Amino acid sequence: MSALKKNALKKREGWNSRLGVILAVAGSAVGLGNFLRFPSQAVGNGGGAFMIPYFLAFIFLGIPLMWIEWTVGRYAGRFGHGTAPGAFHRLWQNRWIKYIGIIGIFGPLVIYVYYTYIESWLLAYAFFSATKSYFGLTTAGALGGFLQNYQGLTPGSTLWAAYVFFLLTFLANIYVLRRGVSGGIEKLARLGMPLLLVVAVVLLARIFTLGAPDPAQPDWSIWNGLGFLWNPDFPRLLDASVWLAAAGQIFFSLSIGIGVILSYASYLKPKDDVVLSGLTSASVNEFFEVIFGGSLVIPAAFAFFGPLAITSVVKSGMFNLSFVTMPLIFQQIPLGSVFATLWFILLFVAGITSSVSVALPLISFLEDEFHCSKARAVRIFGWVAFVLCQPMIFFLGHGVLDEVDFWGGTFFLTVFGLIETVLFVWVFGLDKAWDEMHRGAHIGIPRIYRFIIKYITPTALLLIVGSWFWQQAVPVFLMRNIPVADRPYILAARLGMILVFAALAALVRIAWKHKKPGGGK
Ligand code: PFF
Repeated sequence: MSALKKNALKKREGWNSRLGVILAVAGSAVGLGNFLRFPSQAVGNGGGAFMIPYFLAFIFLGIPLMWIEWTVGRYAGRFGHGTAPGAFHRLWQNRWIKYIGIIGIFGPLVIYVYYTYIESWLLAYAFFSATKSYFGLTTAGALGGFLQNYQGLTPGSTLWAAYVFFLLTFLANIYVLRRGVSGGIEKLARLGMPLLLVVAVVLLARIFTLGAPDPAQPDWSIWNGLGFLWNPDFPRLLDASVWLAAAGQIFFSLSIGIGVILSYASYLKPKDDVVLSGLTSASVNEFFEVIFGGSLVIPAAFAFFGPLAITSVVKSGMFNLSFVTMPLIFQQIPLGSVFATLWFILLFVAGITSSVSVALPLISFLEDEFHCSKARAVRIFGWVAFVLCQPMIFFLGHGVLDEVDFWGGTFFLTVFGLIETVLFVWVFGLDKAWDEMHRGAHIGIPRIYRFIIKYITPTALLLIVGSWFWQQAVPVFLMRNIPVADRPYILAARLGMILVFAALAALVRIAWKHKKPGGGK
């Protein structure tokens, strides 16, 4: 190994402790997806019956991909790569595969761009709750108006408050990232995850002691609210979209299939365990999702609005649940401002431990492949992300955020997951893959997973991706479901994304040009 190469490898950072990396991965996974997306998905897709495809997706897609990504990341890190272009190229010495790996930088960047903006609303609402700014607005319409006003969507409203909170949130992310993997991300997770647990338990205790808050409606109780969420509607299982929704939720919630866990794992040492750590972080996510995600918003909304209104409340979307329904509820309970502030702090902390994770791939890429210093890599990332965030802020009303969420947060997750699985298990080879997973492992993976990882995971992923192309590709590409007035904005967003992808491709090309031929990198 040349001295230069050795230097490049030595310079990579690392995690401080095993617990730290597990918490950081769990921090990435536990996010808005757990507290808002999960309950809305469950209610909209068969209630308790949703848990069947959800659980199967966890066993056959979630856990395998968690292990695969931890292993591929740790393996790539050994060669000084922290992102998918280098990782994929290590798994398969094909000159094109590194370009496919760009999805593993592009997808997270796209998620970062809209996720941080939403995160900033949470910070703002924590502030509004503490100062009781929206207290006194006691109808869904009035609170919806308050939110739209804040987002600059109503005539005459200004965006300055939203912009200030966005800047604060953005800078907080940059601060953590600048402090590095162990000094920033790991520390944040060590602080944030226990805080999340405490706040979630406090909120849960508060909501479960509400009983039936309306004396005139003794049936509108928290327990019946739980029943509403978990009552299985089995015939819905015949609907393929319910299965797709379950798989999509597992992917988004676990942060798998997009290259983020891969980047985190690249900072492990070659013999650090990945099997138990991967399983633990996935389990922590499920605990937060099913226990807290499933017990806070929906039962509370049921208890206050009753069985008739709840369906329309849920249908109004996860943002309404968080920014309209919960504020309505908190205004009706003693110390409501305190609990509302806690609710938004919970979501904000869950959000920031996730958003720093989606920022890391591009930063690692600049450090690893261009040997940028941390300061420089974070600065470049910061400016690029800052510019890309602007359309989210200013064109929110035209569906731009939903559009990038679809590509970054849904579509590319399964596509990347499929490619990664096939590469690791079929191209790199199952036997080598199995050995690699077990290097330094604290537990063995049940042998049945050899079969699952080789056949079931890729087949299920292929079915998901294939059925999307079959059913939805044409209307999505032709923007059939998008109002005509918004189409220019959506088209611009798509063009923007293509440009970002092309720019990353150019960077990959430049980086690899400077690598020694035959070096295998
Ligand atoms: N898992 C996060 C959530 O549940 O909110 C969102 C997320 C983070 C998705 C990181 C993907 C990702 F790479």
